[in-house]
Amino acid sequence: MRIAVVGTGYVGLVTGACLAEFGMFVTCVDIDEKKIEMLNRGEIPIYEPGLDVVVEKNSKAGRLKFTTDIEEAVKNNLVIFIAVGTPPKDDGSADLTYVENVAKDIAKYMNGYKVIVNKSTVPVGTGQKVKKIIRDIVGDKYKFDVVSNPEFLREGAAVNDFMRPDRIVIGAESDEAVAIMKDIYSAHYLGEAPFVVTNIETAEMIKYASNAFLALKITFINEVANLCDLVGADVHKVAKAMGMDGRISPKFLHPGPGYGGSCFPKDTLALCNIAKEHGYQFKVVEAAIEVNEEQKLRMVDKIMGLLGVEKKEGVLEGKTISVLGLAFKPNTDDMRESPAIIIINELLKYGAKIKAFDPIAMENAKKIFGDKIEYCSDEYETVQDSDCLTIVTEWNQFRKLDMERIGGLMKEKNLADLRNIYEPAKMRKLGFNYTCVGRSK
Ligand code: UGA
Repeated sequence: MRIAVVGTGYVGLVTGACLAEFGMFVTCVDIDEKKIEMLNRGEIPIYEPGLDVVVEKNSKAGRLKFTTDIEEAVKNNLVIFIAVGTPPKDDGSADLTYVENVAKDIAKYMNGYKVIVNKSTVPVGTGQKVKKIIRDIVGDKYKFDVVSNPEFLREGAAVNDFMRPDRIVIGAESDEAVAIMKDIYSAHYLGEAPFVVTNIETAEMIKYASNAFLALKITFINEVANLCDLVGADVHKVAKAMGMDGRISPKFLHPGPGYGGSCFPKDTLALCNIAKEHGYQFKVVEAAIEVNEEQKLRMVDKIMGLLGVEKKEGVLEGKTISVLGLAFKPNTDDMRESPAIIIINELLKYGAKIKAFDPIAMENAKKIFGDKIEYCSDEYETVQDSDCLTIVTEWNQFRKLDMERIGGLMKEKNLADLRNIYEPAKMRKLGFNYTCVGRSK
């Protein structure tokens, strides 16, 4: 099986590398020459655990190559995955320019039957749009199929998620295309792979519905946590008991400073837009978006509460706040829509001095905050002389800090544990003025 993957971002690179790992011959294409040069030197442009090993192994074996030449990639391959970005436009709808440009290129260089697979998260109706773009250019000269095959991988666990998916969704209009897609994904299964075969629109909707539901779940537990704080309940116990109900499931019930990343914020907005375009208001998702924005700001209120000050101009002047964790979640260097951005910018707005550390995301953080904050080289340097320690991302290395030492280094022992990684009673015993999300009393 010969496959081309257009776009070497998270989804494209992981898809290309993992399909090569299954034994297929894969050509990854990108218009970004620098990125392709890097990949050809064996350097991975993103931080994703385990991806370097898969890329190196399959490049050496000759099953994985990187090029900017889309013409050759289209001509030499039967299946072409489109995995380019669909960034949000100002109104929240997805910008399809990159997808449409790839569709035009595919049409231009088509030389026989092709299966064109949309892997990017695209609004419902995009598959038909891609089909029309190609049909308008090639006419009846060649037969082709457009397939929607959304990806459900998480950053930081992408290789594993791709290799062991809960389901493989194939939205297609011909048996031939379905058979080819099944052939690709059956490669790594001994038994029957968990296929869900649908039409194109349903497959496109499955992706948005899944992400929006997960965003709702997180937002729901965040609101439960906020209420737990007020009534003196423990959200961890509430979530544990809720999760024991098979209908609810224990996953994605961890409260925190609000969801971030390149997917949930973008996809929830896009889903509301798709609904609007069809004359429908998706109220529950709109509410989740609003609550999630508030949740980030609520974290700033918590910090102010710890410091015993009221939210007003200049109130944090003279205060140093140390921040551990900047990436939107652990095991990634991705800062996109990270709650840390809103939280830090708010604290700066009220006059605080910020000292920050993240194990991997420091370079990306510098692009966002510039010289507005101080960058430290480890946890202990970060907390030195600070009035409050705020843990924003739950990196494993933050879970077992020497908290006695931390307390000794700080000017004031205030701890805002926004990911609930420490035991409240233990921290209070160590003399910390402690707050977290949903077990603060
Ligand atoms: C998400 C989905 O989990 C993937 O299934 C999907 O394929 C991907 O989006 C995508 O559309 O490409 P990702 O954004 O990489 O993956 O990360 P998640 O692990 O889902 O975390 C998203 C955000 O939710 C993070 O900010 C995380 O801290 C937060 N979160 C997650 C919580 O606050 N609580 C939880 O219980 C779980």
